[in-house]
Amino acid sequence: MSSSDPQPPIAFSKIGREIQSPVIVDLMARALANPELLSLAAGFTDNAVLPRELVARFASELTQAGLADEPLQYGQNQGRARLRELSCEVIASHPGEQAVAFDPSNMFITNGSQQALYLAVQALCDPGDIVLVEEPSYFVCLEMLKGLGLRPIGIPCDDAGAIIPEAMAALLRDLDAAGERARVKAVYLVSYFCNPSSRSLEADEKRAVAKVLLDAGYIVPVMEDAAYRELFFEEAHPAASIISMLEFAPFPKLYLGTYTKPFATGLKVGYGYCTHSEWLGKILGIKGHQDFGSAHFNQALIERVLEEGLYEGHLAGIRKHYARKAQVLEGELLAGGLKELGWRWETPKGGLIIWARAPIGSDLRMESEFCQRCIEQGVLYVPGDLCFSSGEPWHCARLASGALPEDRLIEAAQRFVAVAKQM
Ligand SMILES: Cc1ncc(COP(=O)(O)O)c(C=O)c1O
Repeated sequence: MSSSDPQPPIAFSKIGREIQSPVIVDLMARALANPELLSLAAGFTDNAVLPRELVARFASELTQAGLADEPLQYGQNQGRARLRELSCEVIASHPGEQAVAFDPSNMFITNGSQQALYLAVQALCDPGDIVLVEEPSYFVCLEMLKGLGLRPIGIPCDDAGAIIPEAMAALLRDLDAAGERARVKAVYLVSYFCNPSSRSLEADEKRAVAKVLLDAGYIVPVMEDAAYRELFFEEAHPAASIISMLEFAPFPKLYLGTYTKPFATGLKVGYGYCTHSEWLGKILGIKGHQDFGSAHFNQALIERVLEEGLYEGHLAGIRKHYARKAQVLEGELLAGGLKELGWRWETPKGGLIIWARAPIGSDLRMESEFCQRCIEQGVLYVPGDLCFSSGEPWHCARLASGALPEDRLIEAAQRFVAVAKQM
């Protein structure tokens, strides 16, 4: 039977009935399919700084016969023990962290941090439940939450993405008044060089979040996504993670990290660090059903890189590279006169993104004339409305500087500015 033959209907599940192909999948497919379409949208890293030599060297070592803990076999559901230890050390090496706070038994290795996030949410939430998110927030997470039938609700933030504590307290009061308290299952923060705002949460800002939650009696799980923490340009962001901050002691916590963006997205190895044993048990139970362990070979490879002390050297190289890419993109936006047209953005200090805001009232959504003209001109961006739980406002664009080589990045920025000028 071929796929063009008539197919009998299937009675799908609620998720199956409602699922739509995520925007991220479409954006990546477009970027891969048409090299002439310059993508400032897709979250790829730069091929020029992929760790080819390290991967080749350790792939060769790891394929020798007779290695203990054979990397070409299945591994443990929770991930390789040594990689879990080393991943704790990676987190503990950041400023402000209390090394003693990290226990490898709380660590689990996943198929990218996206899987850790998905498992954690699945363990916590039923359809209709609420997850509080920053505004703007990681659009793939927002889509994922909605796809599971959940309600992401934005924590009020200012134009640049800074959380407004009084407004957050008011939001919790409103949720109480609406009888929604029991439905608030988690808070999700992208604290380091956020995708998309590129800003990092200051320690005081995090303390304020903990205080607002505590004062309102919302002792709910807090998930801190640190996907870009290692990708700072000059200096690490000084705020400690929620794992090491005393103010978060009363909360169940999950810290999400990854080796995709900072090392190789194609290996797709990430991790979660969960301080709550029951929650962790549920996460691992679901993971057992889903894949009973992430790609063992890829884990072993990253473990070797860390074990040999080669990760930091690799990071030092790519930090300079991505700092330069961000400068190139920003430089071209400035040279093209985007600020004179009333656009604003903060110069990123890390990550792969510039969060550009057109004058209020502009419409940059996927279906907007602006977006269609960009596609006609051969440049893609992520419309910012996707990064807001309510789908508004419409005047923001997420521009990624990671993937394109410099000359094409310049060309993409020029095409983007040209459309902004026409509009
Ligand atoms: C904020 C954020 N979190 C998590 C992820 C997931 O990354 P991965 O699954 O590749 O580790 C991404 C990827 O773009 C991201 O931007």
